[in-house]
Amino acid sequence: MIEANLNLVVLISGGGTNLQSIIDKISSGTLNAKISAVISSCEDAFGLKRARDAEIPTVVISPNTFDSKIEYENHLITAVSSYKPGLVVLAGFMKILGKRFVTEFHDKIVNIHPSLLPKYKGLNTHQRALDAGDHVHGATVHYVTAELDDGPIILQAEVSVVSRDDAETLQKKVLREEHKLYPAAIQLIATGNVSFKTLSEST
Ligand code: GRF
Repeated sequence: MIEANLNLVVLISGGGTNLQSIIDKISSGTLNAKISAVISSCEDAFGLKRARDAEIPTVVISPNTFDSKIEYENHLITAVSSYKPGLVVLAGFMKILGKRFVTEFHDKIVNIHPSLLPKYKGLNTHQRALDAGDHVHGATVHYVTAELDDGPIILQAEVSVVSRDDAETLQKKVLREEHKLYPAAIQLIATGNVSFKTLSEST
């Protein structure tokens, strides 16, 4: 089944290079989707400029402006729902989503993580790969569940770790791969070749 135009809401907190790669692939016609909104948890995220330059509506919802995590999450759910997303795309979104959000958009949230999951959930993945002496590192696109950096894996990309690598060079290498990986994974979903259900059943 091919969905004519998968409707994406992209959540960011920072630079938004992954967001840019998705925008570029949509523009070039290699990703069969549209972005109806970019929502940032941070008002000075550079990704907001990328969205505005592409004429995508932007919203800032900063956790600091709410009295509680629950209020913040409720607000986020209402905002995301208003765009009726076919897929919620976390692209460098640095807030951990609560159970309510994950339940609300169950099987419709994807994330990109800079490691070969299940290795190195959480932060500082590049340094942890170096400290472990790994020769291969990479990135993962996965569906989001209530567990941090867990959920069915959609695609992974590997990079070689060489002796002169440090966390910075490794981060650059991995990010280059992320920019191909994320649009490719979203395209698999847009064309009906992958779904939460099929991946869950095959594991
Ligand atoms: C990427 O490394 C991604 O894997 C992680 O956050 C970073 C976001 O980078 N989740 P950017 O904002 O897309 O440039």
